[in-house]
Amino acid sequence: MLKIVEFNVNGKDYEIAVNPGELLVDTLRIRLGLTSVKKGCSVGECGACAVLIDGVVVNSCIYLTEWAEHKQLITVEGLRNKDNSLHPVQKAFIEEAAVQCGFCTPGFILTAVEIVGHRKNYTRDEIRRLISGHLCRCTGYENIINAIERAVKESHKP
Ligand code: FES
Ligand code: FES
Repeated sequence: MLKIVEFNVNGKDYEIAVNPGELLVDTLRIRLGLTSVKKGCSVGECGACAVLIDGVVVNSCIYLTEWAEHKQLITVEGLRNKDNSLHPVQKAFIEEAAVQCGFCTPGFILTAVEIVGHRKNYTRDEIRRLISGHLCRCTGYENIINAIERAVKESHKP
């Protein structure tokens, strides 16, 4: 039996009928066209499908759409500023050349947004631990850590 679920994605309200068991990654990618959300492992191991739900990163491949009822979701499509400029975390990823094939990038960026939102001065090792839920097959991680370190530092500037 279909269930009506209401939630907000990237500032826009949605009310959609979902099948029991429908996964959030499929709702976002297939029904809402938000293809920054990637489907990698489908078992909660790689972080490619990460989205922010009420400010916390969640792997949408192991999250039922109906659990998102009345929640605020953010994907990379919703990160740009009102003037259409890039989010500081996106800029940091470009400046540090932290992207190769890009498949893992949206997930890392959303986790970086959550990290920056903590308003703490994390060490490199702490950043390494905080991104441990994400796998990247291309970059060797160093530039990604550089980018997050840069975004954290920038966020502390007056
Ligand atoms: S696709 Fe969801 S964690 Fe890998
Ligand atoms: S840039 Fe290719 S998987 Fe990370």
